[in-house]
Amino acid sequence: MLHKQLQFSSFFLTAEAAPNVRKDFIFACFFIYATRFFFFTLQAMQTTYNFDKVVDRRGTNALKTDALRARYGAEDLLPLWVADMDFETPPFIVEALCARMEHPIFGYTQTPPGYWPAIIGWLAERHGWEVKREWLCYIPGIVTGIGLALNVLTEAGDKVIIQPPVYHPFRLVPEANGRAVAYNPLRLAGDRYEMDFEQLEQLIDERCKLLILANPHNPGGVVWRRETLAQLADVCARHRLTVIADEIHADMALHGSRHVPFASVSEAAAQGSITFNAPSKTFNIAGLKSSFAVVPSAALRARFYAWLRANELNEPTIPAAVATEAAYTHGREWLRQMLAYVEGNIAYVEQLLAERLPAIRAMRPQASFLVWLDCRKLGLDHAALLDLFVNRAKLALNDGEMFGPGGEGFMRINVGTPRCVLKQAMTQLANAVVNG
Ligand SMILES: Cc1ncc(COP(=O)(O)O)c(C=O)c1O
Repeated sequence: MLHKQLQFSSFFLTAEAAPNVRKDFIFACFFIYATRFFFFTLQAMQTTYNFDKVVDRRGTNALKTDALRARYGAEDLLPLWVADMDFETPPFIVEALCARMEHPIFGYTQTPPGYWPAIIGWLAERHGWEVKREWLCYIPGIVTGIGLALNVLTEAGDKVIIQPPVYHPFRLVPEANGRAVAYNPLRLAGDRYEMDFEQLEQLIDERCKLLILANPHNPGGVVWRRETLAQLADVCARHRLTVIADEIHADMALHGSRHVPFASVSEAAAQGSITFNAPSKTFNIAGLKSSFAVVPSAALRARFYAWLRANELNEPTIPAAVATEAAYTHGREWLRQMLAYVEGNIAYVEQLLAERLPAIRAMRPQASFLVWLDCRKLGLDHAALLDLFVNRAKLALNDGEMFGPGGEGFMRINVGTPRCVLKQAMTQLANAVVNG
């Protein structure tokens, strides 16, 4: 024993004994690491998360439940509108937050050392996108980020292109900032949206400075193909348009689809874009403001990031940093199970519509928990459609018109909710349509 100890300590003391002992030491380290990795992976895989659990959000100031009267004029509605989920935020995030909250001082805090590696690791592993640390910067929300980028990169009167029907702040933020919005409406080809490049070329003039892209698309749930993104990058590069790629739904590709980061498709895309992403939708932490930007172009960084730094907008709050690191470090298995559950919910909606409401068709999303319902065959105008959903079916959904041209006659339902709630909602809808 003593002999062994002496031999081991010689690892540190003498050069001659070193090679063999060092091999043993490396092997021992590897063994311990591999065992721990195996153990934690097994533990994560054995955890079955419960997405059936109904959590009452009323009284927490949740927008989805507590703003019903203000938005819909009634409180007795099933709320399937705001794009957050009704599933509990995963326990590993709640535990990380609680552990930090136990310390009673919330003073000025530096960004934790594991924060950036967690983001870089996640983008590489999940999306095959190798980003450099200097490309990244925190931003306090994606809609906020769009507003900030807009103010830095454009002037009053400049034009911003969007492709409706699309997430409505893409229109609201530029308009509220005195920029003009130019529409390049998506084309419906069968049951899929496509970008209209001919129309886009005709639309662009010298006042157009930015194009805001939802990748994947909300509300249509489209995972844009690499060729489409590359073509968009070419057009924008030729006309010196900067693309803001909002990739907040990126982690939630469904049914075997795979998200393609816009900036990864070509050099033109990388050099002409600002990407926004976040763990907020994926892990249900939208209230924590946990987003970040990715800008490969040094020239764009010199304008945008320098301005963010000058105004001290570039540092995550304590909860944002803690939750992001926990999400991207421990989130794989939870996400896998959550997406499988959402796919089950989508299948349920499709089945119910086929059996009881063939006049409404669900556009199957390739990503995320929002389902775009084509209600045009009901033959109702906007007011009558709202009356059906709100007053008769008692549902709070997003109406298609709010997403701009092309949204007329559609409704968006959020299926990030326990199945029993979804079943209740779909039954109410079916009864309202069938019973008139
Ligand atoms: C495409 C898209 N971008 C941005 C957001 C909101 O992001 P944030 O809460 O970070 O402003 C949403 C939320 O629904 C969204 O769907």
